[in-house]
Amino acid sequence: MKITVIGAGNVGATVAQLLANKELANEVFLVDVIEGIPEGKALDMYESMPILESDTRIYGTTNYELTKDSDIVIQTAGLARKPGMTRDDLLIANASIVSSCIEQAFKYSPNAYYLVVSNPLDVMTYVAQQVTGLPREKVFGMAGILDTARYRSFISMELGVSMQDIQALILGGHGDTMVPLTRFTTVAGIPVSDLMSKEKLDAIVARAAGGGGEIVKYLKTGSAYYAPAAAAVQMVESIVNDQKRILPCSVMLNGEYGYNGVVLGVPVILGKNGVEKVLELNLNAEEKALLQNSVDHVTETMKEAVELLKK
Ligand code: LAC
Repeated sequence: MKITVIGAGNVGATVAQLLANKELANEVFLVDVIEGIPEGKALDMYESMPILESDTRIYGTTNYELTKDSDIVIQTAGLARKPGMTRDDLLIANASIVSSCIEQAFKYSPNAYYLVVSNPLDVMTYVAQQVTGLPREKVFGMAGILDTARYRSFISMELGVSMQDIQALILGGHGDTMVPLTRFTTVAGIPVSDLMSKEKLDAIVARAAGGGGEIVKYLKTGSAYYAPAAAAVQMVESIVNDQKRILPCSVMLNGEYGYNGVVLGVPVILGKNGVEKVLELNLNAEEKALLQNSVDHVTETMKEAVELLKK
């Protein structure tokens, strides 16, 4: 297993480290445009492996040629938000960064799976798919796991119970229009609505939807990376170990939920063949309306991205 991580910033470096700690690859290549940063961070991580008892070898480089024949490519490069910005404010800068990185990686790894983490997430996943021309099974984005992880953490804080017992699903785009499905949220099998008031749950949903912004506000110069990196690595783990986990991921819809050609967060089965199946849920009228709102928003931003890439 050879995995390339594009971007040696906070998300990329944390992803590389987690991949190595979990020994999910024999080789991890950390790539960046800024000479010295990927080499230095990768060597530092390499030197930690004897202590961490992992045989993953991590290399840093600015040369995509070395990433040749990667099995999985993880796209993290791009600008991060500053306080007051929305993820969509990153569109202009990140559309060109993502398309150029993916183009270079694809040249050397045409058979890889492409996992996108850069924002605005759903639209950057679309960009990666357009650049590679690969089927949706092989190009997908990380967002839902992060959004549900925030939601699950807050429920755990509120109830004082193990995070592991909280199961949740989310639909829609990454951002303010995400659609947390409270109806599908359970705590050790108990519907969450039996354990807390609607007001409490609504407040938790709102906090989860704004969860990325909450971190940006604290950090001021960047956005979250520990939870985003952990979420991306969970997707890799499900593929590498063919776990067939059901995880909310961003993927092109081919008619599911009544939509075509839009990239959106939906529950999928992730296994050795990538996105092996998109699961369709029976939504009620309220959930359908929220999803439509999310679709409208992402579709609009996708159109802007297409225009930008023409230039
Ligand atoms: C977040 C950013 C990374 O949700 O999208 O933290």
